[in-house]
Amino acid sequence: MTPPTIRLTVNGATHEVDAAPDTPLLYVLRNDLALNGPKYGCGLGECGACTVLIDGKAARSCVIPIQGCVDREITTLEGLGSRAELDAVQQAFIAEQAAQCGYCLSGMIMTTKALLNINPHPSLDEIRAALRYNFCRCGAHIEVLRAAMRAAGHSLEAAGK
Ligand code: FES
Repeated sequence: MTPPTIRLTVNGATHEVDAAPDTPLLYVLRNDLALNGPKYGCGLGECGACTVLIDGKAARSCVIPIQGCVDREITTLEGLGSRAELDAVQQAFIAEQAAQCGYCLSGMIMTTKALLNINPHPSLDEIRAALRYNFCRCGAHIEVLRAAMRAAGHSLEAAGK
């Protein structure tokens, strides 16, 4: 049976996707739309590697069926900024060299962005709470916190850490 066509709005563009309604959003982003910012980590909604924004809020795309994404604004890492003009969060992560292997980075950046969308100047504790369930197997957490603090307009040192 031919799968239905589902219309998704991703990074400001509309896409017609032929996929089963229960297909995880992550699969469509990566396999159909060639948006490889979001990564497949656990596939269970637990590691944060696949995080994207849906209507500005952090969402784990590995466990969200595409039928739940119709009429919503999906943003991936690719949609945050452009090569010529990176988003401030992207700039902060580059400035702080907040990656080792980089696999978790898209999720870290998107989760930080979601936090700043609702709280432009979060405290270190608020940043920690927001990133608590984004895992980095390399152990780059200090650099990630530094980057998130920079994006929030603070420094880790000023926070006495
Ligand atoms: Fe989605 Fe781990 S791959 S949370």
